[in-house]
Amino acid sequence: MTNSNTNLTAVAHHIDQTDRRRRFGHDGAVIWLTGLSAAGKSTLAMGLEARLLALGYACYTLDGDNIRHGLNANLGFSPEDRSENIRRVGEVAALFADAGLICITAFISPYRKDREMARAAAQRTSFHEVHVATDLQTCEARDPKGLYRKARAGKLPDFTGVDAPYEVPLAAELVIDTGGQSVAQSLDQLVAYVKAQLALG
Ligand code: ADX
Repeated sequence: MTNSNTNLTAVAHHIDQTDRRRRFGHDGAVIWLTGLSAAGKSTLAMGLEARLLALGYACYTLDGDNIRHGLNANLGFSPEDRSENIRRVGEVAALFADAGLICITAFISPYRKDREMARAAAQRTSFHEVHVATDLQTCEARDPKGLYRKARAGKLPDFTGVDAPYEVPLAAELVIDTGGQSVAQSLDQLVAYVKAQLALG
């Protein structure tokens, strides 16, 4: 989205990615986790953040439930509100990455076009779509917040996977199915991917 106001002029920074890389020891990037509710996105995002920080990476996690208490507190779960949710988060994640951090995001982000918009927003750094591909049956069996039960009982409309769509990524950089493995195994997979993509040095 661009602003049509013609009375705006872009201001240049005095420092660039090389300066930021020197400061942090790695490039900034967006690690975008997408998947159903209860797929394990938040668990993996927070675990990845802790593991990367311990290795010496500068990083921060943006999580759907948290962001919806602040920046996006005015948004619900209609298709339009979900798109606006992801548009804002995509822009914020791009800014964090531009600042030199590894920004990890954990949002259902059910629509392909919204995820593509987030990727396009991060044009100055790399963007890595990670599909947390835990299947609906497993997510529904976990149901840590009791939301699937509510949705099936007709008490929570527009719930992803029940009566709202989830568009599966067609070309995610990484796919993790948490159904058949432990959290530690999934985390090892993620950490190995990030280390290979974003070398410390
Ligand atoms: S998104 O679809 O707009 O990307 P987001 O990741 O921010 O969703 O928020 C999802 C979280 O909101 C879920 O983990 C769940 O706790 C809560 N939630 C409440 N209502 C819904 C709903 N109708 N569909 C999905 N998640 C919901």
